[in-house]
Amino acid sequence: MSKIEKQQFRRICGKFASGITIATVLDTEGACHGMTANSFTSVSLTPPLVLICVDHRARIREHFRIGAHFGINILSAGQKDLSDRFAGSGYDRFEGVPWHPGQTGVPLLPDVLATIECARVNVVTAGDHDIVIGEVIHADCRDGEPLVFYGGQYRSLG
Ligand SMILES: Cc1cc2nc3c(=O)[nH]c(=O)nc-3n(C[C@H](O)[C@H](O)[C@H](O)COP(=O)(O)O)c2cc1C
Repeated sequence: MSKIEKQQFRRICGKFASGITIATVLDTEGACHGMTANSFTSVSLTPPLVLICVDHRARIREHFRIGAHFGINILSAGQKDLSDRFAGSGYDRFEGVPWHPGQTGVPLLPDVLATIECARVNVVTAGDHDIVIGEVIHADCRDGEPLVFYGGQYRSLG
């Protein structure tokens, strides 16, 4: 795909509005890692499966491939700063960020619209991304407005 075509592909995919999640995982030493991801998708009801797509260049990739569990935190409208923080580099993303371990141990963030804890069931390589599929083990949600991503920008509903 040429550079122009890539840009066009991005532009077209940006026409699909999504929410934003912070996907979290522990490494083998128990340290927290997290990444902003809007590729979250529900896959199956029975069993309850979800997926995220992880860029092969992302440093967190290996932790998703190895970790038995991962977490999904669905951001609310006021959490743009968290989205930026977990997409940035050059610092510890969890430093100063409140979190608590879920029942599987994965880091969960306060004030999000929903938390989902998954057991990793499969990782499928697709092009330059890994599709990480998880079975939902625990989940919770609350009312509120979502943070929306559309056309490469943060939006809110309404
Ligand atoms: C709104 C938004 C959505 C993103 N969604 C994804 C995604 O679904 N998958 C992914 O691999 N990277 C996604 N990214 C980029 C990653 O958050 C970012 O590139 C990654 O955390 C960089 O990690 P590293 O610098 O530690 O390698 C997204 C970034 C933003 C701002």
